[in-house]
Amino acid sequence: MTRELTPERMLSLSISFIRTKTTAKPTVAIVLGSGLGDFAESLSSKVIIPTEAIPHYPVSTVEGHKGRLVFGKIGKLNLLAFQGRVHYYETGNLHTILYPIRVAHALGIKKLIVTNAAGGINSNFNPGDLMLISDHINLTFENPLNGVDTASRKRNVPQYAPEMQTLLSEIARTHNIPLQHGVYAGVKGPSYETSAEIKMLRSYGADAVGMSTVNEVSLASALGIKVAGISCITNFAAGIKDLKLSHAEVTEVANMAKTKFTELLREAVKKLS
Ligand code: HPA
Repeated sequence: MTRELTPERMLSLSISFIRTKTTAKPTVAIVLGSGLGDFAESLSSKVIIPTEAIPHYPVSTVEGHKGRLVFGKIGKLNLLAFQGRVHYYETGNLHTILYPIRVAHALGIKKLIVTNAAGGINSNFNPGDLMLISDHINLTFENPLNGVDTASRKRNVPQYAPEMQTLLSEIARTHNIPLQHGVYAGVKGPSYETSAEIKMLRSYGADAVGMSTVNEVSLASALGIKVAGISCITNFAAGIKDLKLSHAEVTEVANMAKTKFTELLREAVKKLS
C-alpha cells in the first residue's frame, strides 16, 4: 500500500537530496528574477543543482526557464542563489511558487534578497533603474499564509526588514549606485496591464508592477526570515510614456543595470553573512 506523502515529508526528501550534493550552510539567499540570473555566474566554488533533479521541487513549464539552485561563495561567504523562478501564472498553484521559500527556510536561510523585473509606474523612474522595495500591494488575491501557524500569521512585522533596507540604501550611497525606493504591486499576469489598470495602480500608491515576489516575501517573513526586495525597472508600465523602447535600447538598459545590480548584491551579501 502506498501512503500519500505529506508536504513535510516532500520537503524533507527535497532537503535530503540537496544535502547529498553539498554540505554548505549558507544563511543568506537571493532569488534572482527575470533577466537577473547571471549574478549566480559570478559566484566562486559553485555547486549547481538543477531543480528538476530535486525530488518534489516544482519545475517551470516555460521553455528556457529551467531553475537551478546555485550554492557558491563571495570571498569566504556562503550564499545560495535561486536562478529561474516559476511564476504563479504558469501553474495557478500557490504551492509551486512558495516551495523555494520553504526550501530556503528548511536549509537554515535567515536573510533573503528577492529580486524581480518590473514595469515603472512612478514617473521619476526610467528603464534600467533599481528600486528598493519599501512595501508591496498583493493584487494576486491569494494568501500565502494558509497552513502557517496562527502566531506567525498574526505577527504584525514589516515584511521588508527595515534594517535590510537601511543596509542596502547605505551600500548604494557609498558605492554611488543610484537606487530608487518604492511600493511594488504584485499581479497575477501573464498579460501586461492596460493603461487604465496602471492609472489605478498609481492611484493605489504603487511605484512599480510585476508578476512575482509578493506571496514569497509574505511567507518568508512569516517564517522569520529577514527580507529585502529589489526591482529592476525594465520598462515604462503601460501608458506611462508615449514611447516604445527598441530592442537594442532594452538590451543596453538591462546590461547597464546588471553591473549596478551585481555590485549592490555582492556588497550586500558581504555585509549580511
Ligand atoms: N508589468 C508587469 N510585469 C512586468 C512588467 C510590467 O510592465 N515589466 C516587467 N515585469
